[in-house]
Amino acid sequence: MSVSSPVRLGLNIDHVATLRNARGGARPDPIEAARLAVTAGADGITAHLREDRRHIRDEDIRRIKAEIAAPLNLEMAATEEMTGIALKTKPHACCIVPERRQELTTEGGLDVAGSAEHLLPVVKRLVQGGIRVSLFIDPEPRQIEAAARLGAPVVELHTGQYCEAWIAREEATARAELDRLARAATLAASAGLEVHAGHGLDFETATHLAAFPEIRELNIGHVIIGEAVFIGLPEAIRRMRAAIAKGVDKRPGGHAPAQQQQQQQQQ
Ligand code: PXP
Repeated sequence: MSVSSPVRLGLNIDHVATLRNARGGARPDPIEAARLAVTAGADGITAHLREDRRHIRDEDIRRIKAEIAAPLNLEMAATEEMTGIALKTKPHACCIVPERRQELTTEGGLDVAGSAEHLLPVVKRLVQGGIRVSLFIDPEPRQIEAAARLGAPVVELHTGQYCEAWIAREEATARAELDRLARAATLAASAGLEVHAGHGLDFETATHLAAFPEIRELNIGHVIIGEAVFIGLPEAIRRMRAAIAKGVDKRPGGHAPAQQQQQQQQQ
């Protein structure tokens, strides 16, 4: 577990479950991956229990809670079924994401502005249940403002568009997307929201995001699990931690003040 970084690293273990399910057996075990990752320096585990259970299953969520001491961030759609599971499981956090059955992965952010009425009771019940609620949104001012109005303490900014432009080497678009994320992070923090980010990040783009002073957590899966095939999971986690540390060093004033670190460790 890292105690000195102002940016928590949440490892998304969905892709380990995908690999396991491909052969219908028990291995590779996502919970074993979670255990290794935490020992190597991940601060928490993220898992998306989808309506169709295509990767993570209910039993995985139960086992993470029972066997892994690090905080669990349960990604879920804002449905009655998932709200019930979350309230029963009591993960440290719930990240509410939009979910469409046909998509390969979560494609866009949640339309908080357009579905506040539907989201409000879900957010309220989870918050009252002692769960830290995060809303996965595109880096748009109207979504940030709607998230703040809804009373969720955290937003996770969708970095997918930025990462796609970066990978395609579309320089102007990548720069514009990174600027959009930076403005969104500032706006969200000024609205009192804790700022997380994720989706599509790699070892370079994670550095860029970690350089934003407002970022407190990055949730990353695919690139770490993919790299683990070649270098092993502990080494992939260490490499990602180094990428994040490089970004933090680029922050104005370098490392976060001790007070911020202290607050973070208490959460
Ligand atoms: N954050 C959210 C809300 C996601 O839906 C995902 C993908 O499941 C991630 C982070 C991790 O994305 P990736 O696997 O591309 O790193």
